[in-house]
Amino acid sequence: MKPSLEDTLLSAIRTIPDYPKPGILFRDITTLLGNARAFRRAVDELVHPYAGSKIDKIAGIEARGFILGGAIAHQLSSGFIPIRKKGKLPHETVRVAYSLEYGLDEMEMHADAVEPGEKVILVDDLIATGGTAEAAVRLLRQMGADIVAACFVIDLPDLGGRARLEGLGVDVHTLIAFE
Ligand code: PRP
Ligand code: ADE
Repeated sequence: MKPSLEDTLLSAIRTIPDYPKPGILFRDITTLLGNARAFRRAVDELVHPYAGSKIDKIAGIEARGFILGGAIAHQLSSGFIPIRKKGKLPHETVRVAYSLEYGLDEMEMHADAVEPGEKVILVDDLIATGGTAEAAVRLLRQMGADIVAACFVIDLPDLGGRARLEGLGVDVHTLIAFE
């Protein structure tokens, strides 16, 4: 029998205690990415609700959102927008500060990466506090994007990120949760 989605993904994700700071249980998807079956299954499940819809662009959050977002963009025949940590993009950018489970940072997007009204799906590996994803939503909306959904492999529901994004009127799609 085919293993369930949950079993496939949970068994492919590695947990590293005390990384990058004491007390954090880091959910490491590099083991999922290295497992051909689990990687394909995760991408297929994230794409499924949007198959056949016209999605102009996938916005992937650095760094693991680039890997998943690139695969999803290919499957949906969409363009790709990199949302990056500050100072990495070469052209004119829009920038926003944000906080996450273990610190503070700033992220940027090229100012011409999205046209007003374009349909965009935001992608990252994991949502925790939602600080990173909220910052990306703000950048995309500032440039006029219509955010169809935000998709993540992993939800950490205790940290409230899903509710935070839903409070901004964003549909959230996740595959598995770690309580
Ligand atoms: C991780 C993860 C998300 C973010 C989620 O990235 O890939 O982008 O944290 O946390 P939040 O919901 O509390 O904002 P990280 O900031 O570790 O950066 P990296 O991908 O460059 O390692
Ligand atoms: N980003 C924020 N919290 C995280 C966690 N616990 N594991 C992996 N990435 C994260």
